[in-house]
Amino acid sequence: MIVVVIGVSGSGKSTIGTRLARAMGGRFLEGDTLHSPANIDKMSRGVPLNDDDRGPWLSDIHARIADASRRGVDLVVACSALKQQYRQTLERGVALTWVYLKGSEALFRSRLQQRTSHFMKADMLASQFDALEEPSNAIVIDAAATPDAIVATILRQLSLAARVRVLTDVDALSAQAAAAAVDIINGAVAAHGRCSLALSGGDTPRGLYRLLGSQFRAQVPWARVHIFWGDDRYVPADHPESNYRMARETLLDHVPCPASNIHAMPTHLSPAAAAAAAYEKVLREYFDGGDGPAFDLNIMGVGEDGHTASVFPGSRAVDEQERWVLDAHTNATPEWRLTLTLSALSRSRNIFFLVAGATKASALRHALAADSDPHVYPAAGIRPTTGTVVWWVDSASAQSRRG
Ligand code: 6PG
Repeated sequence: MIVVVIGVSGSGKSTIGTRLARAMGGRFLEGDTLHSPANIDKMSRGVPLNDDDRGPWLSDIHARIADASRRGVDLVVACSALKQQYRQTLERGVALTWVYLKGSEALFRSRLQQRTSHFMKADMLASQFDALEEPSNAIVIDAAATPDAIVATILRQLSLAARVRVLTDVDALSAQAAAAAVDIINGAVAAHGRCSLALSGGDTPRGLYRLLGSQFRAQVPWARVHIFWGDDRYVPADHPESNYRMARETLLDHVPCPASNIHAMPTHLSPAAAAAAAYEKVLREYFDGGDGPAFDLNIMGVGEDGHTASVFPGSRAVDEQERWVLDAHTNATPEWRLTLTLSALSRSRNIFFLVAGATKASALRHALAADSDPHVYPAAGIRPTTGTVVWWVDSASAQSRRG
């Protein structure tokens, strides 16, 4: 996970960044250490830097961020990043989280006046506030709070179970996710004798399903694996739009998973509400009346509109807390769906989101943002309390776009 703590001088970036990195078990990078001697001399003389001064400095920081992302290292960076264009440089090709330490000029001036060594002088603070363009996609923190309170708030909002892995393309993310899936499946079987694997539909997961049924086929104890669906279209099982049919064609027809372990949504039952209730009964029996379907691994996707499973913007499945499975009429094709609710989906022990393509960049950014409204971006409502979430995304979707 990459977190960049931003704000003007005196906002506490270094103090908070250091403590946050320690709490995350990650590394800390003080952006100011990468300034050139010429920049430091200029600032020490009370002369504000211009965009030309900042260009090479920001590129150096971006190189460190991209390297940490490639290597899957948790990194916290402290950097003023006052302008949107600076932030665009730092986030190019990387999924990262901005944390903005917001406060008054008076508060930060009083802090700077207590400093002696730092090259940023208090009287340069005004130029920093003049240059500041507040971020619209950051975790916003009241910089006046205590460092402990600030770090606790950030950790809570980062929901540190989330992990973002950026791979070059959908084939690369499918291969990495498949290998990780095999580990989770085998871990579940070793821990409790069986694995519950929930599948989703769409196109993105096809590559992963094919790999599980071919390259990784022999590494999975299929007789111990139970297959479920997080959603399906309310169509016959042999319909071209059926998620069950897609899973059969890409995976289940190629592996020795017993028919009794394959728990398809009963789309033959009518009406749809009865089918949903019947599937909920299957889940409650399998999970032995627990407080939710704790799938060992739940493979999910995100639509361009931010939907996940068949929970679309404005769906009643966003707020439903009692039922685990609902029938849903949508504006998508096919329009009738059966879907688990966000609350039920969030009970999974491990969730893999697979996201690929530039058209998903906005939905991905909103899904990852701590302050997104799940009624607008349902994927943002998948917030496991105890489980982990790994986002397997390609670089095209990781491009953080406006909008
Ligand atoms: C479905 C899926 C749905 C899917 C997204 C992304 O039934 O369609 O469960 O939630 O994951 O629509 O689909 P793509 O992977 O095709 O973009």
